Amino acid sequence: MKPENPLLPYLATLQDVIDLTPDVKLFKLKLNDPDIRDSFDYKPGQFIFVSAFGVGEAPFGLTSVAHRKAGLEVAIRQVGTVTAALHQLEPGAIVGVRGTFGNHFPLDEYKGKNIFIIGGGIGFAPLRPIILTILDNRDDYGDLLIINGARSPQDLVFAPEFDTWAAAPRTKLELTVDAGDEKWTGTVALVPTVVSELKLSPENAIAITCGPPIMIHFTLIELRKLGFADNQIITTLEGKMKCGLGKCARCNVGDKYICQDGPVFSMEQISELIEQF
Ligand SMILES: Cc1cc2nc3c(=O)[nH]c(=O)nc-3n(C[C@H](O)[C@H](O)[C@H](O)COP(=O)(O)OP(=O)(O)OC[C@H]3O[C@@H](n4cnc5c(N)ncnc54)[C@H](O)[C@@H]3O)c2cc1C
Ligand code: FES
Repeated sequence: MKPENPLLPYLATLQDVIDLTPDVKLFKLKLNDPDIRDSFDYKPGQFIFVSAFGVGEAPFGLTSVAHRKAGLEVAIRQVGTVTAALHQLEPGAIVGVRGTFGNHFPLDEYKGKNIFIIGGGIGFAPLRPIILTILDNRDDYGDLLIINGARSPQDLVFAPEFDTWAAAPRTKLELTVDAGDEKWTGTVALVPTVVSELKLSPENAIAITCGPPIMIHFTLIELRKLGFADNQIITTLEGKMKCGLGKCARCNVGDKYICQDGPVFSMEQISELIEQF
């Protein structure tokens, strides 16, 4: 169902708020109107605007999957005004939701391929729906390797799900941190180093990466060294956003609007955008 005015948010009730890391919370939202709730469809990679009334709104990637019909989930890192206001809210609070916006990861095109998910920090949030979709349709895809990196062990998002992911057939989970603590016995290395050391094979593979720009930059270099072509590397672009509708030009890059043409792009598409500058 398309809203009459796409700038007006739907009302949603906060069902639950779960601490994922010291500065990231998972918000479970239920749209108040049952008709809107039933028709609200979305795909991995798409995003919504969530508003804290009286403060403002901000875009967040949906980290849930529509097919599980468990409500909308966003993982929000507190960085500034809107995110701080959202972090203050408790279950039962009413927020605004606009969306969904943007394109999505073309997971149907990846069927039969080996998938490498490479995420860092809060950048892992839009990658979780890919993992959930593959795990719920495990026979449709090849091997799944998940690399999740963070500054420290307590900054790894979605830790309660790691055992389930690692136990899935033909699935491997590699966790890495920039600096361990006294309990950490796992890998201490930057994400691009892990990519290099694991010697990921580009054969019949797609690498999907999302995280801080510096992580993406060096991960891309490693993937190219390993022989990945630019059309085998998928990432998401972030940008300042206001409308989400391709109207305000805040998120413009080259001849594209990230809010409408993105946020999901292949490196092949990004290289074309860079050539426009
Ligand atoms: C398509 C898209 C999807 C996103 N998905 C998520 C998500 O799933 N989870 C999540 O936590 N965030 C996500 N973000 C980022 C989120 O929108 C911003 O963190 C949010 O807008 C900040 O709003 P604020 O009012 O709290 O911060 P502001 O008060 O506007 O900014 C405070 C400080 O944070 C910095 N800042 C603002 N935006 C960002 C940013 N995007 N990255 C890093 N620093 C920033 C500002 O430069 C400033 O220093 C996404 C952004 C886009 C465009
Ligand atoms: S956010 Fe307004 S054009 Fe993209």
